[in-house]
Amino acid sequence: MTQHFESLSRIKCQALHAKVMSAEQAAELIPSGATVGMSGFTGSGYPKQIPSALAKRIREAHDNGKAFKINVWTGASTAPELDGALAEADGINMRLPYQSDPTCRNKINTGQMHYMDIHLSHVAQYAWFGFLGKLNIAVIEVAGIREDGSLIPAASVGNNKTWIDQADKVIIEVNYALSEKLEGMHDIYYGTALPPHRKPVLINEPDDRIGSPYYQCPQEKIIGIVVETYDRDRVNHFSEPDEVAKKIASHILNFLKEEVRKGILPPNLLPLQSGVGDVSNAVISGLQHGEFDNLTAYTEVIQDGMLGLIKSGKLKMVSATSLSLSPDGVDELNENIDFYRERIILRTQEISNHPEVIRRLGTIAINGMIECDIYGNVNSTHIMGSGIMNGIGGSGDFARNSFISFFVRPSIAKNGDISAIVPMVSHVDHTEHDVQIIVTEQGLADLRGLSPRQRAEKIIENCAHPDYKEALWDYFHRAQQSGAQHTPHILSEALSWHDRYLKTGTMKK
Ligand code: COA
Repeated sequence: MTQHFESLSRIKCQALHAKVMSAEQAAELIPSGATVGMSGFTGSGYPKQIPSALAKRIREAHDNGKAFKINVWTGASTAPELDGALAEADGINMRLPYQSDPTCRNKINTGQMHYMDIHLSHVAQYAWFGFLGKLNIAVIEVAGIREDGSLIPAASVGNNKTWIDQADKVIIEVNYALSEKLEGMHDIYYGTALPPHRKPVLINEPDDRIGSPYYQCPQEKIIGIVVETYDRDRVNHFSEPDEVAKKIASHILNFLKEEVRKGILPPNLLPLQSGVGDVSNAVISGLQHGEFDNLTAYTEVIQDGMLGLIKSGKLKMVSATSLSLSPDGVDELNENIDFYRERIILRTQEISNHPEVIRRLGTIAINGMIECDIYGNVNSTHIMGSGIMNGIGGSGDFARNSFISFFVRPSIAKNGDISAIVPMVSHVDHTEHDVQIIVTEQGLADLRGLSPRQRAEKIIENCAHPDYKEALWDYFHRAQQSGAQHTPHILSEALSWHDRYLKTGTMKK
């Protein structure tokens, strides 16, 4: 089985050299029906060679009339080389816990693939509890293997520790494109026990380290090591924030200033969590030019903007589970890695998103949404009630447990044919009980302490687009007259805006 490829330099443990093989040989070790835990979080740290080799194998089996599907678990979204390749080959039965790949989305929405969309903080513990069934094989990208066989994590951690622990067998992909100096940036916590033996997770500040920089894996579990990976992560490109995103960001920044003035927030705010996308980028760049100093972040994903904020000295420390960087961002990190290693900690996702830690630190959460209703229920995942977009990701972990939580998006979509504020959301991810502040480019609705009717007035007045405001007021007023009670609705009309869009292409009457 031993083959010598260009370099074994990153496998310092001599005993493991015998397990080196090609990606094709590694793919042969994954049988149809297997449940495979792969590394990968927001386009970062996913195995690059084995999934493509496996997709090829699956296609060949299908060409020969043989059924071949696997179940794929990851940290979060991956990239075309993993989700895209396996979905195109019709090779996935069940996918969890988060994806954002167009082919996957299509297969899920057409019933060709199962998808379990769950809170990212729940995934590892569901696996430990046995809720998800047996994990057969882990396929994990690493930056290297040390003399003692411990593994140096790559650019994301996600659920890798859990996959290595829970799987019967482990296949490693060593990526030579990663800086070896990533070593030391990670904090892999091995202290979690199952109830009733659980102890507090003792993170009191975002920069507290509670684990080890390495994954531990019994050598006898490792059945293959692939060393032919020289590819970088393929992270989704996020464009520069447009005017709408900048307006949303400015509403948030003004609000935070006011909370500091009132003494509700300290002058350096509280640890920030921000989802990915244009609005998050706009907030980060607003912070770069703003008045807040000595900021910290306790978040899921580090994008380029956060590196800029660290470099400018405004952000002194970031804890996350993934480095989701553009090629320029990767260059910047690699060129100044000693500087960034002091200021970045990458943790397992059950810790980066841990409700106990988020509640203790009192994070400020900013997450995107698809739509919200006049009472403050938020839909983050479904288009027109039934088509999955991506998934809930970590938004629920942070929204419910943060000190302050924002949901953001432009007030209209599809050139104005869709209003992001609707009478009733077509799917609920975050209930009115978890939603504090809604922000669109029109303005900000602070819902804290308000009853449903008061919330409706705030949301319609402050956040709705002018093209839809009158219709929303009309619905709300008529709902109150029609005998409705605490949360007034006209059930026969509540989803008529979505129905109209599906039938006519616009929510406008
Ligand atoms: N109804 C129907 N379609 C809508 C819509 C609505 N109310 N609002 C947006 N859309 C469409 C857009 O037009 C766009 O369509 P396109 O791909 O055909 O252009 C698509 O949905 C995505 O919208 P966009 O504005 O580009 O989304 P985004 O990049 O700002 O992401 C979410 C918004 C909600 C999809 C994204 O934030 C998400 O997946 N959130 C859940 C996970 C999460 O919060 N993760 C972070 C936690 S740490």
